[in-house]
Amino acid sequence: MSFEHILLERPEDSIVLLTINRPEKLNALNFSVMSQLEEAFTTVKNDPTVRGLIVTGAGDKAFVAGADISELAASDPLRARELSLRGQRVFRLLETLPFPSVAAINGYALGGGLELAMACTLRVAAAHARLGQPEVKLGIIAGYGGTQRLARLVGRGRALELLLTGEPIDAAEAHRIGLVNQVAPADQLLATALALLGKIRKNAPLAVTLTMEAVDVGMNCGLEQGLHFESTAFAITAASEDMREGTRAFLEKRKPQFRGR
Ligand code: COA
Repeated sequence: MSFEHILLERPEDSIVLLTINRPEKLNALNFSVMSQLEEAFTTVKNDPTVRGLIVTGAGDKAFVAGADISELAASDPLRARELSLRGQRVFRLLETLPFPSVAAINGYALGGGLELAMACTLRVAAAHARLGQPEVKLGIIAGYGGTQRLARLVGRGRALELLLTGEPIDAAEAHRIGLVNQVAPADQLLATALALLGKIRKNAPLAVTLTMEAVDVGMNCGLEQGLHFESTAFAITAASEDMREGTRAFLEKRKPQFRGR
């Protein structure tokens, strides 16, 4: 499948590398890029051979420098609401994929760029990356989930500081506050993302999917409901062949051979 602004590659059999390819505009998310992202996420979701996704930006300057400001400038309130709802839907699709995704942040991740990265399961940043939510400087607010996911990731106080000052932070600071999981030299960024996915891929696929789902459910409801979901998901894993294999392999002092069943 080919897209004008999205490249899909297979750096490894079960891993898809998705590159947003609009470097002349620092990979800014215009209407067309968003539509293609939605299609690409749907494609990988429906492909049973995919076990992990890496999202990155073309070039070495930007991951994504935000929503396309020229489109925003021409928006009336109804259009703005439509853009926001669609962006939220596309990023939620990414967030709820049944396998982990890693944002490989290869430069500026601003506005919608940081919101895209936050919808990924995990984030690795190149040392030169800069991350921020500068929307207030443009007279708008984050509209693709930034006001919600940032506070969930780094806590209310730090989220409000980033969202209200609009000032970007560097990769080291993003790592310190837990906004990114790892920082790597630019030329090691993809290898770092692949290594992270490689560690996850060694584990039972159903257990990985249900763990992601349980954390997601728990972030969006109260403790009692979250615990209830956890028990049900735990019970489902106990019905899997992989649970028998994982526990037996431990007792037999050998490596498990998980089959995703
Ligand atoms: N939307 C549309 N175009 C964008 C863009 C965005 N979010 N971010 C960058 N671009 C375009 C620039 O307009 C420029 O296009 P041009 O060459 O046709 O003039 C091109 O990308 C290169 O950007 P430029 O600003 O010249 O690069 P820089 O190195 O001087 O600055 C940034 C880099 C990231 C600091 C700067 O581009 C910027 O502040 N971008 C907007 C970030 C933002 O506010 N994002 C949130 C949007 S809601």
